[in-house]
Amino acid sequence: MTIRVFENDRLAAKAAATIFASEILKKPDCIIGLATGSTPVPTYQELIRLNQEGVLDFSKVRSFNLDEYVGLAPEHPCSYRRFMNEQLFDHINIDKANTHVPSGIGDDPEKNAAEYDAAIEAAGGVDLQLLGIGHNGHIGFNEPCDRFIAPTNIVTLTDSTINANTRFFEKREDVPRKAISMGIRTIMSARRILMIATGEGKAQAVRDMICGDIDPRHPASILQAHHNVQILLDKGAASLL
Ligand code: F6R
Repeated sequence: MTIRVFENDRLAAKAAATIFASEILKKPDCIIGLATGSTPVPTYQELIRLNQEGVLDFSKVRSFNLDEYVGLAPEHPCSYRRFMNEQLFDHINIDKANTHVPSGIGDDPEKNAAEYDAAIEAAGGVDLQLLGIGHNGHIGFNEPCDRFIAPTNIVTLTDSTINANTRFFEKREDVPRKAISMGIRTIMSARRILMIATGEGKAQAVRDMICGDIDPRHPASILQAHHNVQILLDKGAASLL
């Protein structure tokens, strides 16, 4: 693992955007894995700036997002598809047909999950996967558990995640209890992984990820076993290292 600590989240975001830029410049049709939540927003703003200034061309880039809530249609204001459109895709020259977010609707979410992994594989696998980390150490929506779940699957969100994500909804009861998430094998199959964690609230999860044993009760700790992981932290998230 390469760990870099920045003065603040803006500088971490600039570094993250630079890593994406180098991947896209090297391989214009690369496959990027994307995340939602608050952490990547400053990185997406940097990527938008680079695209609008003509530095970065997304016209051939393909993307796969980590997760989606079960039961939320793509046009739902709190869906992750909507989030990605609003925070990134609507502002860059990516072809929306090349952007993929798992489907949380339909009769058979398990089938959606299996098809998502198959689509990633058929596309050639993720070149660079962006991750955030939950306060409880989750990556994607792989919650603390007694074993790592390999493939993309349907997960039950923990109270900690429901509480953390209530800020995106009107009230706690509105947060879906289930999500479809890339599994641990799906995430670990990415050729490169870029994790961003910012804020003191993430410090314990970051410590467990980096300094603890590989343990499914701290899902992000599995990243210790990946051969190419870069972790970008601000001072708050690094405060327990
Ligand atoms: C988002 C995702 C989650 C978030 C994590 C951190 O697609 O899969 O693992 O990265 O919950 O969320 P924020 O950035 O909102 O603190």
